[in-house]
Amino acid sequence: MRHRRRRFGIAISVAAGIVLAGCAPMGSGDGYTTLRLSLNQAENHPSFIALDNWATYMEEHSDQVRIEVFPNETLGAQAEALQLVSTGIADMAIVSGTQLENLHEDFLVFNMPRVFDDVDHQMQVIHDPAITGDLFTSLEESNNITVLGGFTQGARSVYSTTGPVETPADLDGEKIRVQESKLNVAMARALGGAGAPMSFGELYTGLQSGVVDAAENNEVSYYTQGHYEVAPYWSYTNHLVGLDYLIINTERLHSLSPQEREIFEEGWAATHVEHAELWEELTQEAIAGAEAGGASFHEVDSESFDSALEALAEVFISTDSQRELFEAARAAAESE
Ligand code: GCU
Repeated sequence: MRHRRRRFGIAISVAAGIVLAGCAPMGSGDGYTTLRLSLNQAENHPSFIALDNWATYMEEHSDQVRIEVFPNETLGAQAEALQLVSTGIADMAIVSGTQLENLHEDFLVFNMPRVFDDVDHQMQVIHDPAITGDLFTSLEESNNITVLGGFTQGARSVYSTTGPVETPADLDGEKIRVQESKLNVAMARALGGAGAPMSFGELYTGLQSGVVDAAENNEVSYYTQGHYEVAPYWSYTNHLVGLDYLIINTERLHSLSPQEREIFEEGWAATHVEHAELWEELTQEAIAGAEAGGASFHEVDSESFDSALEALAEVFISTDSQRELFEAARAAAESE
């Protein structure tokens, strides 16, 4: 796969919305099947860079299939993107595990604090069919959605508009924006604050206007979304290693010829490998960029967060199949 790396600071195109408005129906027009992929990240985020390289790969290797990536929530926030893929209005999307947790309880397992030790462990688990079993096809009948694999969200930590955090007591009374999931609301409580679910694209304004006092994410999104400008205190709670999934409309996937599907899947395999490689490098660039913009990064008393975070598994991992997945993921860490 060609590495056409884009760097932070490259001007972001604002044309995608206009392009969408004038779009022909999927797969029509120029003789190609064009798969439209919804992403909520900006064009300097590793997910866009890797996916855009996949689009280039398809141009170079496939006679029939093209991929068009729509960044910046152009096709909607993740909850909408999920519906669009389910109904076939869009073909693919990158969605956080929290969105899939709302459709099938087994996805919750990989959204737990402490299930993954680090990015390598996470990628090993989710790209091992012996561990994921039926999980990635579990939404096919109910939602017409197939999961193809994932991208890491890296380790997530808390950042605040009010000051650094050392222990959960420092978040007492703070409204922490979380993703739209019950587990995430409970996690905000475990971190010491109150969870306020909100879509990703609303967060900058939410922090700026004081609707929320804090949020939690990885350094890359903190930087590429400009959140450091309005919430300059980053505290390394490292409460979980987050996971994004690539989803595709099931009928669309099955409509590809065996030969095209092979090219498509080879391209995707190279794409998630490239994403994992880019992750560390762009995390360092994000930290440097946010610091240059006035953000400060702080260590926390991590032990003071451990017991409340670990207790979440007792409440949320409740079925046999959830327990099996959790244990298989942990066993992979222990055999590393
Ligand atoms: C990360 C993740 C996104 C998610 C976002 C969020 O940036 O990659 O998929 O939407 O966190 O907190 O909403």
